[in-house]
Amino acid sequence: MKHLKGVLIAVNLTLGLGTALAAAASHWAAVPARDHARPNPLTGDSGAALAGALLYKNHCQQCHGADAQGDGKKKPTLRSEGVRSATDGDLEWFLRQGDLRHGMPSWSSLPLAQRWEIIDYLRSLP
Ligand code: HEC
Repeated sequence: MKHLKGVLIAVNLTLGLGTALAAAASHWAAVPARDHARPNPLTGDSGAALAGALLYKNHCQQCHGADAQGDGKKKPTLRSEGVRSATDGDLEWFLRQGDLRHGMPSWSSLPLAQRWEIIDYLRSLP
């Protein structure tokens, strides 16, 4: 019995570690297929990108920096290959979920259209 308990704890630890590593590797791997494929209805709308810039200033800049370059520590740059390679749907999903455990708030309280505007702004960055 004691032995079985030990095995179960070991299995649990292994599974837990696996999940943590997968999360660290990429947020996008966790995105459900439907969200991953969701198109951004505001793509190519320059007004939306401008509105997104303002929203970014109000909600995101304090952590990710005025130019979205991050702080070089825990707050990642948003001008990364990782963000570029994500679909708009991946980003919308991530903004909606957040990752509170790692310090990223959920933005589900913003209207959906504002999340798309912010994503348009991120896409407009060089
Ligand atoms: C309180 C600080 C904070 C605020 C405000 C914040 N973020 Fe974050 N964000 C983080 C942290 C910390 C991470 C890293 C989380 C992780 O590793 O899971 C992150 C991760 C991200 C990522 C994933 C980057 C990657 O390469 O995986 C995106 C995209 C993102 N944030 C966008 C935004 C946007 C857009 C806003 C504004 C609506 C915002 N964040 C507001 C702290 C913040």
